[in-house]
Amino acid sequence: MDFTNCYEDTKRAESYAKLEFPGTYYLAYRDLPAITAKHVKGNTAMDFGCGAGRSTRFLRNQGFKVTGVDISNEMITMANSIDPNGDYRLVEEGSLGHFAGNSFDLVQSIFTFDNIPTEELKVKLFSEFNRILRKGGYMINLVSSPEIYTHDWASFITTCFPDNFTAKCGDKVKTIMKDVEDQRPVEDILWPDEDYKKVYKAAGLELVATYRPLGKKNEPYQWVNETHVAPWVIYVLAKA
Ligand SMILES: C[S@@+](CC[C@H](N)C(=O)[O-])C[C@H]1O[C@@H](n2cnc3c(N)ncnc32)[C@H](O)[C@@H]1O
Repeated sequence: MDFTNCYEDTKRAESYAKLEFPGTYYLAYRDLPAITAKHVKGNTAMDFGCGAGRSTRFLRNQGFKVTGVDISNEMITMANSIDPNGDYRLVEEGSLGHFAGNSFDLVQSIFTFDNIPTEELKVKLFSEFNRILRKGGYMINLVSSPEIYTHDWASFITTCFPDNFTAKCGDKVKTIMKDVEDQRPVEDILWPDEDYKKVYKAAGLELVATYRPLGKKNEPYQWVNETHVAPWVIYVLAKA
């Protein structure tokens, strides 16, 4: 299957770099500091798939010393221009070989695995996280729920894509991001819960918690389905 990482694109990167935490994105990030504080000891972190650095700076604001990594030169360029003192590194797809083993207390990945196509590559990367984590370290993997592609949201339109409704694990699915200038559809890969569990097992990581944040009525957003269908899934994984 042909799959292109749509973030290796200057227009997309410039548009994404202006994104903060509006609408449905607020819900992805709202509970992360409490989840991270509950599980993670120590302050050394990798932000895998850091994009323009929004998630990296979010982690730094929680007191972590963070290295952001990404395969998109366009996104890393934006991260460095927004935050010249940050630590952002361009990596080759599937390769974390130059990071030493047992060197991070946390590997965080926010939305990145929505754009990683095959089971083979997923298992390879999670095995690498297992290797670079210190004993007692954790990986936090935040991804889109399968339901995000069959409902509409404060920040996304997805129901205009008929193929989303019949997609199976590994198939392409599409969304339109409402909060950015670049309204070209984003292509993701559908990966349901049971298939993530197979990947974690194959990589030797232990799933210790799963969170599915819901919107609350008193929040200052025009929730569409967010109060009763979870758009995001947050997995907390322990080094074996
Ligand atoms: C939707 S963006 C999210 C960026 C950031 N985590 C945030 O929350 O703002 C997903 C990022 O994952 C990156 N990505 C996709 N495949 C990757 C891979 N195999 N290794 C590292 N980064 C990858 C993309 O280039 C893109 O910058």
